[in-house]
Amino acid sequence: MTTLPIELKPSSNPLSDAEREALLAHPGFGRHFTDHMVTIKWTEGRGWHDAQLVPYAPLSLDPANMTLHYGQEIFEGLKAYRQPDGSVATFRPEANAKRFQLSARRLAMAELPVEIFLDACDALVQQDKAWVPPHGGEESLYLRPFMIATEVGLGVKPANEYLFIVIASPAGAYFEGGVKPVSIWLSEDRVRAVPGGMGEAKTGGNYAASLLAQAEAARQGCDQVAYLDAVEHKWVEELGGMNLCFVYGGGEGRKPKIVTPRLTGSLLAGVTRDSLLSVARDLGYEAEEGRVSIDQWRRDTENGSLTEVFACGTAAVITPVGTVKSASGEWTQGDGTPGEVTLALRAALLDVQRGIGEDKHGWMHPLG
Ligand SMILES: Cc1ncc(COP(=O)(O)O)c(C=O)c1O
Repeated sequence: MTTLPIELKPSSNPLSDAEREALLAHPGFGRHFTDHMVTIKWTEGRGWHDAQLVPYAPLSLDPANMTLHYGQEIFEGLKAYRQPDGSVATFRPEANAKRFQLSARRLAMAELPVEIFLDACDALVQQDKAWVPPHGGEESLYLRPFMIATEVGLGVKPANEYLFIVIASPAGAYFEGGVKPVSIWLSEDRVRAVPGGMGEAKTGGNYAASLLAQAEAARQGCDQVAYLDAVEHKWVEELGGMNLCFVYGGGEGRKPKIVTPRLTGSLLAGVTRDSLLSVARDLGYEAEEGRVSIDQWRRDTENGSLTEVFACGTAAVITPVGTVKSASGEWTQGDGTPGEVTLALRAALLDVQRGIGEDKHGWMHPLG
């Protein structure tokens, strides 16, 4: 086990209780940040060092910082939830720590040991515990660990210095006033990731690659983009920031079956996706990883065998898909309202995260 002591240098002027509570009343997503951040440096030959908890503050970067030019950057996203007894627990932080290592390997960056990742998240949540919204609703504290290269120079190569940072931001309920289905634009020409590329890494470049299609989707009146595989432009992969799940059957005594696109290397292995495969089985559904083509998506919706489709990810947990639109047509999922299986899975997972449901899989990481 590799650990690193974190030096605590807390802020001398954190936000007042009244100011913080005013922000927590309407936190939105990613708009407000807590009083502190954790920073840890890595230098070639020395490894990880200088772990500190410091006041949240802007960074000062040399204009020739390598990240600004060549995009060696990775990040994670996970949530801390207030539990019924007032304590705080994060959801599956080890899974994020391991995916952060996978992303680092893919971008030739230094790999942060899992224990250090966990300690950094815990230290920040512990310090800024008052920022974790109260138990009761779906609000949480979103943690954003990330890492950038800090070497200065314009030569294209893996950097010899990195900076790991964790910041935190209170997150409101994704759907205020009830779960609402999203509309999807099927991108048949622009792809997000290619075989052998960086799709399975959580790196800024993948999101930059998705923005133009996202802008096209908005012009088409759609909320999100669904990407297809880059070779045949046929197999459904994922949305720009969420995985997809297809619900077959259900009704008339049949067990519903959840199918999610299998991990090919070009899509992100979502922690929510993985958790839902287990939750689905816990609820008595079948659950499998497979392949779904766009033709199948449309045909099975039209013949009634594909009853529900939803997207899943840390931010919204589960988002039902209402309508799907592409250059070649448009269809509606079910009757366009959130499906029964979608809502059951959403409630079951949120119950575990909020400490109401039994944590059968040991996913919750309580803060000491
Ligand atoms: C591209 C992409 N796919 C899937 C997900 C869902 O992953 P997770 O469930 O770990 O949040 C995310 C978001 O985090 C994402 O950015």
